[in-house]
Amino acid sequence: MSLPRSDVLVVGATGGVGRELCARYAADGIRVHAVGRDPRRLDALAAATGALTYRVDLTDADAAGVLASELRDFGIPLAIAAIGGWYVAEPGLALPMSRWQRTIDSNLTAHFIAARTFAPVLRGPRPVYLALNGIASHYPCEGSLAISVAGVGQRMMLDVLAAEGRAEALTFAELVIDTPVVLPGEDDDDDQPTHTIAQVHEAIEALRSRGPEAGLVLRAHLG
Ligand SMILES: NC(=O)c1ccc[n+]([C@@H]2O[C@H](COP(=O)([O-])OP(=O)(O)OC[C@H]3O[C@@H](n4cnc5c(N)ncnc54)[C@H](OP(=O)(O)O)[C@@H]3O)[C@@H](O)[C@H]2O)c1
Repeated sequence: MSLPRSDVLVVGATGGVGRELCARYAADGIRVHAVGRDPRRLDALAAATGALTYRVDLTDADAAGVLASELRDFGIPLAIAAIGGWYVAEPGLALPMSRWQRTIDSNLTAHFIAARTFAPVLRGPRPVYLALNGIASHYPCEGSLAISVAGVGQRMMLDVLAAEGRAEALTFAELVIDTPVVLPGEDDDDDQPTHTIAQVHEAIEALRSRGPEAGLVLRAHLG
């Protein structure tokens, strides 16, 4: 049996983008550590890709901390946070508090807990913690108030973490995908630009190979 070339940690691995990134890296012979919340989807992912799966709700910092100690010895050089989703709902002033809270939990708090838990376990000469973000983080998308607020918060969180870590080897990166991602089996949308998982994967690897800029987030847009 050949040894895996390397490791990647995918957080939000049971979502549309996370799942396909796991499949992509696994197909390249890379050992995939897949973190998700939904046990059924984690089992399906393990069966389809051979990924090592870990179940945790990322609003629970203590549970995430336990997982971090499991992962530390693997020497993982890259983490990809593909957490939180997208919806278009009511206008901001009509947004129910329950939906606001759920969105902030999944799209911002979960990103913070993922960063504080998994960034410190990364290893190697130039470890990279990369988070995905979307257009709502910099463009006012109507019906997506809470997602927009969470997206801006995520961006600033990474900026602060990068500034605070300017003397460290760890690089923070953010890939902002400004279009829908068309997943395998889905129809492309003729009315608007889209990207494929292959393009997302390529953009992640391009960002990762860019030279580090001390104290700054490596950031790119797929527009
Ligand atoms: N899909 C697109 O077209 C698109 C376009 C632009 C940008 N993006 C970016 O890509 C990323 C992923 O999007 P997606 O479409 O793949 O989203 P998704 O299908 O909704 O998946 C979201 C993932 O986040 C996980 N998650 C949410 N809250 C969690 C929590 N509290 N604890 C643990 N896991 C939690 C979900 O786990 P469960 O399975 O357990 O719910 C799932 O794995 C986002 O950052 C988004 O901004 C996506």
